[in-house]
This record gives sequence, structure tokens and C-alpha cells, in this order.
Amino acid sequence: MKYNLPRQVSQLDLTPIIKREIEKQNISLNSLTKKHQGELATIVEVIKTIGLPDYLILHKLPHNLGKGIFLHPDKEPLSRGRLIVPYSGEKEIVPAEYEGGHYAFTPLEKIYLSKEEQFFLNNSLTYKARRSYTLKIDASKKGNFARFVNHSSTPNIEARLCRVPKNSFGLKPTPIEVIYFVSKKILPGQQLLVCYEGEENCYWNEEGVKPFPMNPSTFQLNSHLKIISEN
Ligand SMILES: C[S@@+](CC[C@H](N)C(=O)[O-])C[C@H]1O[C@@H](n2cnc3c(N)ncnc32)[C@H](O)[C@@H]1O
Repeated sequence: MKYNLPRQVSQLDLTPIIKREIEKQNISLNSLTKKHQGELATIVEVIKTIGLPDYLILHKLPHNLGKGIFLHPDKEPLSRGRLIVPYSGEKEIVPAEYEGGHYAFTPLEKIYLSKEEQFFLNNSLTYKARRSYTLKIDASKKGNFARFVNHSSTPNIEARLCRVPKNSFGLKPTPIEVIYFVSKKILPGQQLLVCYEGEENCYWNEEGVKPFPMNPSTFQLNSHLKIISEN
């Protein structure tokens, strides 16, 4: 698969700003258990080597919905709480008004920066003390299969904000990472779906379109790996 970036990457060292904002804004983060650290290390290796784990299938959907990710019909169900994949992409702190695009996650908002920090991030913008910035993870150019997980208001995947601590699995620690976990048992053939809307419900408003109403069984893969619709 073309999208084989295991975890988020950044051109600049954003860690000091991110750590400060997490503390200042009192952002609550999930801490990864040893079990989750092991699952994260495993999926990182799979993405590096083959891109998509063998229990998942990337398949085109009808109704111009593009592609989606399905649990292989011959594999075991995925239990609630299982770590699936980190949302990877290019990590940047940008002015809040910058368009995120269809593949961007915004784990931190309302970041205010010093003159030095604004210059460090982009030396072609004039300094404005009141300019608000956001942290984006943009998977439009680089990413992994998480970028193909579609939206539902009745999802089976949950995006959790996590901190990856120092660990014995060879994983680089990060102050914040978006990680997809199973929130509702996923049965063979079902589609993996996450809700794109956070508290601000802005993804579909910005798009100006209504999402197609899908649940994990609306489209399923049969044993011949063909899409079947619920209706
Ligand atoms: C992160 S991508 C998901 C993967 C996408 N289907 C693809 O093939 O690249 C997000 C885009 O997928 C489409 N999409 C995802 N869920 C949708 C839904 N429930 N209804 C309509 N479009 C959806 C929209 O075009 C959205 O901007």
C-alpha cells in the first residue's frame, strides 16, 4: 500500500509547545497500558513492512464514498478496547484559519504563541499576539490506512488522544498522539467507522455537505470480498 507511514512526523521539534499547551489547557490524555504499547509496536512494524494488516481489507464503496476499511470476513471479531492504529500524517502547528482538508485531525486548538515561536514556525508571517493556532495531523500526502476509515454517527472505532510514554517496545515517546481503538465489537465483514466530529461538530459544517448515513453493517464484505448492502 502507498500509505505506509507508521506514526506522525514533523519537520520541526514541536514538543515544547505541545507539552506546554497540554498542561495550560488541562487536556486529559489516555495513558497507554503495556498491552496497548505492545499492540502499537506490532501495528507500527506491520505498516512499515506491508502497510495493511492481513485481517483488514481496503475496498471501494458505492455512492462516491471512496474507499473504506473492513474486517476480513474470514478473520476473528475485533474486541472492544483493542488498539487498531495511530492516525499518522504530517504534524504541524498552523494558524487556525488554515483549511485542514479532508484528511486532517486537529488534536489541539486555541494555541497562542510568543513572537519567537511564531517566527520559528513560519518566518514569512508578521507577528500577531492574538493569532490563534491549531495542531494538525494531516494525512493527505503521507499517512497510513487510518486515513481510509470513514465517518459514522454510530461508530465502532474511537479516536483517543494518547501520550506514548517511555517504554521497552522501542516506540518513540510522544506528548500527544491520536490513536484508533475499537469502541464496539467488530464482526467479520463489517466496516470500521469513526465519528469525525469532536465537541465543535465542525467537519461536515466546513464541508457544507451531509454525511451519508452508515453504520458498520450498512456495507459489508462477503466471503468473496464483494461489497453487499444491508438494504
Ligand atoms: C478521511 S477520508 C476517508 C476515506 C475516503 N473514503 C477515501 O477513499 O479517501 C474522509 C472523506 O471520505 C468521505 N467520507 C467519509 N465518511 C463519509 C460519510 N459517512 N458520508 C460521505 N462521505 C464520507 C468524505 O469525502 C470525507 O471527506
